[in-house]
Amino acid sequence: MDLKIAVIPGDGIGVDVTAEAVKVIRAVGDVFGRRFEIETLPWSADHYLQTGVTIPPNGYAMLRDEFDAVFIGALGDPRVPDNRHARDILLGTRFELDLYVNYRPVKLLDARLCPLKDRTPSDVNFVVFRENTEGLYVNVGGRFKAGTDDEVAIQEEVNTYKGVHRIVKHAFEYARTRSASLSGERRPSRVCMADKSNAMTHGHALWQRVFKELAPRYPDIQPRHLYIDALTLLMVQDPSQFDVIVTNNLFGDIITDLGAALQGGLGLAASGNLHPGKTSMFEPVHGSAPPLAGKNVANPMGAMLSAALMLEYLGLTSEAAAIEGAVQAAVTAGQGTREIGGTLGTRETGDVIAAAIRK
Ligand code: IPM
Ligand code: MN
Repeated sequence: MDLKIAVIPGDGIGVDVTAEAVKVIRAVGDVFGRRFEIETLPWSADHYLQTGVTIPPNGYAMLRDEFDAVFIGALGDPRVPDNRHARDILLGTRFELDLYVNYRPVKLLDARLCPLKDRTPSDVNFVVFRENTEGLYVNVGGRFKAGTDDEVAIQEEVNTYKGVHRIVKHAFEYARTRSASLSGERRPSRVCMADKSNAMTHGHALWQRVFKELAPRYPDIQPRHLYIDALTLLMVQDPSQFDVIVTNNLFGDIITDLGAALQGGLGLAASGNLHPGKTSMFEPVHGSAPPLAGKNVANPMGAMLSAALMLEYLGLTSEAAAIEGAVQAAVTAGQGTREIGGTLGTRETGDVIAAAIRK
């Protein structure tokens, strides 16, 4: 059966890197005899400025009902100062498709890419599960007397038992499969939950409650709690102490940029927005970088690795591994864009990696 994939290149370098991600998806399709039906959707700042439509009224239902997965490049454009289109397309899809797991692996592919001294790939290899449907992102609140000296701005953080429970549970379940794959090491897998319950004594008390409730159900996994500020310190001092980190929406947003830095920059970081068992969405962690758009300089590897996460999610593990292997080989050989020390452009990086897959 053909797999149907919606591709939303979006804005800026999103367009550039998506073309290369599609190139490697086609390459593994040919090599493994898989047929992908790829439909490109024009939703972007350009489309919004031309039509006034960010996402059509049936857009979310269409993604959910007609596609097996969604791939997004990046969204954000200075011509849309309130970023309304990004909010509708990216955050809207997260909320409307209830993609509660934001899965962001942090994996160093080559020691030379790590900004920390003397670190090897075995020191930087963890995943972050970011709660993706509530927290401070729900946009509940308002502004009173906006624009005056008396302005009051309120942005509420929503934490629900259901929302916290399902993401923390997902982190433990994932850690369980991961400890199995690390069995040679004889070390239990570790789950660290990060919150700010020392200051946010209502909302984050709920995270504490849920974590304490779930941890004993996973006796094979080492639970740990850290306040978010301490976590950022330890991620930089010694990232090797982490296997799985679970945290809320905003903190997850922040620490995954830090994680991207540890693995060599935003150009390499991949992500999946998941609702296990349902149509899910995959995107590189980086933004649209308007000044770099169309210049053939953006690193397409984060987009390719996101495509690999998508294929893995769809059960195509060999296809996913082929993409990951080819990206790894290119990085090891120093083939890639300038910001990771290579000499290639976006398209040439795509060509090299697609050719490696086809070999
Ligand atoms: C991300 C991005 C988005 C987020 C922005 C574009 C709203 O930074 O996916 O990490 O904050 O979730
Ligand atoms: Mn972010």
